[in-house]
Parts: sequence; structure tokens; C-alpha cells
Amino acid sequence: MNATENYSIRVEPTQNSRLSQVDFDNLKFGKILSDHMLVADYDDGEWKSVSIVPYGDISISPSMSALHYGQAIFEGIKAYKFADGTVSIFRPDRNWERFNKSAARLQMPEVPEEIFMDGLSKLLDIDRNWVPAKEGSSLYIRPFMFGTEAALGVHPSKSYKFIIITGPVGAYYSKPISLKVETYYTRAAEGGVGFSKNAGNYALSLYPTQLANDEGYDQIMWTDAAEHKYIEEAGTANLIFRIGDTIITPHGDTILHGVTRRTIMELADKWGYKTEQRKVSVQELIDGIKSGTVTEAFAAGTAATITHISRIGFEGQDYNLPPVEGREFSNKVLNYLNELRYGKLADSFGWNY
Ligand code: COI
Repeated sequence: MNATENYSIRVEPTQNSRLSQVDFDNLKFGKILSDHMLVADYDDGEWKSVSIVPYGDISISPSMSALHYGQAIFEGIKAYKFADGTVSIFRPDRNWERFNKSAARLQMPEVPEEIFMDGLSKLLDIDRNWVPAKEGSSLYIRPFMFGTEAALGVHPSKSYKFIIITGPVGAYYSKPISLKVETYYTRAAEGGVGFSKNAGNYALSLYPTQLANDEGYDQIMWTDAAEHKYIEEAGTANLIFRIGDTIITPHGDTILHGVTRRTIMELADKWGYKTEQRKVSVQELIDGIKSGTVTEAFAAGTAATITHISRIGFEGQDYNLPPVEGREFSNKVLNYLNELRYGKLADSFGWNY
């Protein structure tokens, strides 16, 4: 098969659906996986086979390159169910685009549209009953790819697996979160891989996040590698602030270019808010909280959706954000996105796929 050919997707339906065992009222993030998964194999410079098979274990070699040298990337996407039963995926084309940017940075092959996008549609068609209907829940979609070559030399893997698994989820964060400004550990430096959604970016966050948890914070607010002066992102989500009359988000290639972040900034523009994508220093944020000009702060991501920030810890001091109820922009955007994603509003943007 090559890029100009159509990829035929083999389908092997499960004989043992687990759907009836799922308690859709108690969904923990990432714990329940749907009946099927899409698996595509790349070897000798081309995608060889694409199939949809029952979700289950896969066999790998202990010398598989991703286990040793970390050629592993992923995405997070959500699908929603409308009242009339329509299943809609939110902006998956943006995730597909970002996935291939991550792949390029890690010297991995691109996944063509016929496999990523058409494969995803077909997978969701088969598992459409797994998409929860209840407001606040959705089907989380996790496409990922990793190097599978059994070889211990440090070089790009010659073979890869691309897999999509899905599962019904509720909220990732069930309440507003507290963040510790990280002034020692670093997530990403200029020229590094901060913009890419690779597994290593998450592995490196675990230890500093545990330290922040031990101090009573939910998450880290990462700062720049050079000076630890400028705010980057929260690790599981991007950050957006309202300072004065402006909606502001940090920007640059050391942070993940989030689809939810982009969506919110596009909506803010459309609604006539002043918007800026620029460096935000920790000092500007702290001064703004103290003086009252910072009126809103939230995390934005596929898993996190929009999660209000209640408290920020910096150099041993805690700074509390204003009450959530009064946050005009973030509440408005959260409601709007919910209505759009569940099909209650006409989608003039073409975001529902
Ligand atoms: C997402 O928002 O989809 C993410 O990938 C964040 C995460 C749970 C690692």
C-alpha cells in the first residue's frame, strides 16, 4: 500500500461486548475502554495493514525501541452524543494535524488522513453505543503511535504501530484546581519538544507534580526553562487568563498548541473580547491577582475541558482567585462549548465532525 492507494480497513467485531457492564453514571477518566480499537502497522516505509479489532492486549518485543528511547506520541480527542443520537467528534482534523507535527519532530512517519480520520469515523461507527449521552460526559479518544522495531541502537525505528482506543469519560477535574508555580523543574526548553504531544513530556512531569501534590496543590504551573519567569502551561492543559479586559494565553513552541485553547481564543475574538497570545510573567499574574485585575484563570484542554483555577502558590505564598460564579468569560465559553458539542446550537464553525 502507498499513500495514493485507499486503505482497506479490516473489521473483526467483538463476540463479547462489555457495554452492558458499564456504569455510565460513574465514569473514571481512562478506566473504561470501548469494545474495539483500530490498529495500523507501518513497516518498510509504508502503512501495511489497518484493522479494527476487539480491544485487548498486544504483543511487543522487550527490545522494542519506544520502550528504550521514547519514540511515542499521542492525542486526546472527544466525541459527544446529540439528543437525536448523532455522534459528533470535536475538531479531530486539528488533532490529526498536531499528531503529524509531533511525529515529524520525533522522526516518525505521518499517519495519512485515510487511516487517522476515516479510521476514527469507522471505529466510532462500530462503537457508537459507547458514546455517553449524559451532559458532562463524552467518549475520550486516544490515538497513539510508537516505534516497534526490536533494536537497541539509537536510530529512528523502522516499524511503528498506530492505535486508536476510546472510552467513555466524565470530567477529568471534578472541581476548581490549585496550581503551584514551578520555579526549579523544567518541562520544555526552546528548541526542545514542548509543542509535541510525546509520552516523555508527561513522564518528566510526574515527579515535580508529586512534589506539588505533597504541598497540597493539584497541578503544576510550568514556567520557562531559561529564567522560570514566564508562565507556560499546566502539563495536562493550557492556561488562559483574563487580565483587565483582555483574554490572554501564553504562546510559543515550548507549550502544547491545544485545540481547546485555540477554540476558546477563536471564540473570544469572535465575541469581540480583546485577545493576546504572548508571554505572561509570573510577576504580572501575581501582581494582577493582588490588585484585582486578574479576574479569571482557567486550564483548557481536551480532557480538562475548562477547569477553573482557584489558588496559585508561588514562592511559599498562596494567591486566591475570585469566586468561580463571577467569572463571566470562562463560564460563558464553557456553556457555549457544551451547547455546541452536544448539538444544541447550530455549528457555524464546522467544528463538529
Ligand atoms: C488531553 O487533554 O487529551 C490530554 O492528553 C491530557 C492528558 C490527560 C494527558
